[in-house]
Amino acid sequence: MACRCGQLLDVAYDWDRVERPASLDWFETKWSRRQEPLAFSGVWRFRELLPFAPPEMAVTIGEGQTLLQKASTVAKYVGIDRGALYLQYEGMNPSGSFKDNGMSAAFTHARMIGARRAACASTGNTSASLALYCAVTRLMKGIIFIGSGKISYGKLSQALDYGALTVQIAGDFDDAMQRVKEVSAQLGIYLVNSVNPFRLEGQKTIMYRVLEALGWEIPDWIVVPGGNLGNSSAFGKAFTELKDLGLIDRVPRLAIINAVGANTLYELYERRGLRWNGGRPDQSIVDGYYVELDASGKRADTIASAIEINRPVNLNKCLRALEVCDGVVREVTEQEILDAKAQVGAGGLGCEPASAASVAGAKQLVAEGVIGRDDRVVCILTGHQLKDPTATVAYHTTDQEQFNKVLGSRGVKRAAFANRAVTVSNNLDEIVKAIQLYS
Ligand code: F0G
Repeated sequence: MACRCGQLLDVAYDWDRVERPASLDWFETKWSRRQEPLAFSGVWRFRELLPFAPPEMAVTIGEGQTLLQKASTVAKYVGIDRGALYLQYEGMNPSGSFKDNGMSAAFTHARMIGARRAACASTGNTSASLALYCAVTRLMKGIIFIGSGKISYGKLSQALDYGALTVQIAGDFDDAMQRVKEVSAQLGIYLVNSVNPFRLEGQKTIMYRVLEALGWEIPDWIVVPGGNLGNSSAFGKAFTELKDLGLIDRVPRLAIINAVGANTLYELYERRGLRWNGGRPDQSIVDGYYVELDASGKRADTIASAIEINRPVNLNKCLRALEVCDGVVREVTEQEILDAKAQVGAGGLGCEPASAASVAGAKQLVAEGVIGRDDRVVCILTGHQLKDPTATVAYHTTDQEQFNKVLGSRGVKRAAFANRAVTVSNNLDEIVKAIQLYS
């Protein structure tokens, strides 16, 4: 999946040779035909904007039925009191995360070239998605590489249940990523990590659905957690193409949020000044940082295990997105992530820790005055609330030992928004008394 120059491949279209819509609201006509799988799919109903495959090749399992939720209590928490905060809830996808958008596109390409086996390294969601698409479509056999003990039980249970060959590597995601590339090259297995450019084509549609839900208006900000940087790269590409096609007249600003314990993009972009630089980012800045990481033995480490990544494969494409969208990068602490997650649970649709980084990042940017209190902001909730119950239960627990073990050990000091369970004996009067006391 790499070019001879060593960089990742990118999908580029000759727009003059494909049917293209005159305006975005044209896509609304698809809704009246939603009994057809491709018109129903939240990816393929935008087929004309990712025209790399003939329709009969498109693979769908019903992905992309997502929701843009206007969340006023979360907006208050973030500090947006005059504008509006929206949560794009990608947890509604069939495997519970945004990954299904890209997986349907990658499976489509794999089908076009007749691949029979597919592999990925994963922090859990890509693997769940790959395993599900294999199970439902039966087009390929799935092989997943995960860091041992590095993915949440919710995600691991999906891969096992859906029947993927699950290879646990003694190492973390960065190790697994390296190995899966080697193994795929050696055995000729189709790689579905976001080094695969078709994955990003599918992920562009998250932005189309956001615009659709806003009546085709452009928000001021898109805020997204950053891990392997596939999503942010795809978002930048989506807006660049829409602008080039004359379908929008401005692009939103992009904020990418790292966890402090996995903050390569923040370090390189905000501290060391790495930029897209017309397609020639200064590689010596990146190499120098990776040498430092190796020398210090520093590994990625965050409760937001989905984004526990130190060597993001889409770094360069992400720099392009930051350039196009006048982007910023921030890092948020474990405490900020978990507090934001509790707020999303209490007033949004709930999410896993990595997703809450977007809300924590938005709050930070409002406090800095970078995001205005009257802006319209869309935070991407990348994964479902049920993906990582361990972190959630530890936050709300009354058991100090459990709190310390899961969260205290990571520097989380308090659970300001905890909703603690009430313990009562199995006695009717006691139960009635407890309910009267607490409700
Ligand atoms: N949020 C969630 C819930 C994720 O699973 C991921 C990535 C991200 C955010 C970061 O997105 O990589 O596009 O910057 N998960 C990958 C995986 C790495 O293996 O499931 P990104």
